[in-house]
Amino acid sequence: MHTLEKVLSEEEIRNKVQGVARTISSDYKDKNLILIGILKGSFIFLADLVRNITIPVKIDFIGASSYGSDTTTSGTIKITKDLNIDIKNQDIMIIEDIVDTGLTLNFLVDYLKTFQPASIKICTHIDKCERRETKIKIDYTCHSINKGFLVGYGLDCNEHYRNLPDIYHLKL
Ligand code: IMP
Repeated sequence: MHTLEKVLSEEEIRNKVQGVARTISSDYKDKNLILIGILKGSFIFLADLVRNITIPVKIDFIGASSYGSDTTTSGTIKITKDLNIDIKNQDIMIIEDIVDTGLTLNFLVDYLKTFQPASIKICTHIDKCERRETKIKIDYTCHSINKGFLVGYGLDCNEHYRNLPDIYHLKL
């Protein structure tokens, strides 16, 4: 059995998501933004974010998996679902649940660049900075948390806990 310790409440999450959505809406006023959610973890964050964005946006998903069945990175990233929208010459924003080492985003940015978008920005719900191994620039962040394995609000451990509305530190 895991022990769960709450680190972010539903209300704290909602306030930050609304703030970041306001900033994105203002930064991309008069542009055509395509949001690309990274499956599976970003599905809840993306759903909340887009309902607070006040400019027209398109939405697509890309599937990437970096972790195996435990809480440590496997170091290998696989595309498990490709894009369905043409992003050539478009402004795109990658929507991520959590950035840890940064290896997944590094891989995805390089992959998405091959489709020649006009610009690529990154928005993450959580920036877990302690284990960063790459120099990735994150443009929009809701929360910075130093360490620990987190679950809830889309984040899983072995596919459990994604549906929890708050975010918890999972203690093994
Ligand atoms: P990175 O490649 O090390 O940055 O890992 C990014 C991916 O690993 C995220 O999209 C998550 O799927 C997963 N991940 C990293 N840290 C956590 C965590 O604390 N809880 C759940 N999943 C995590």
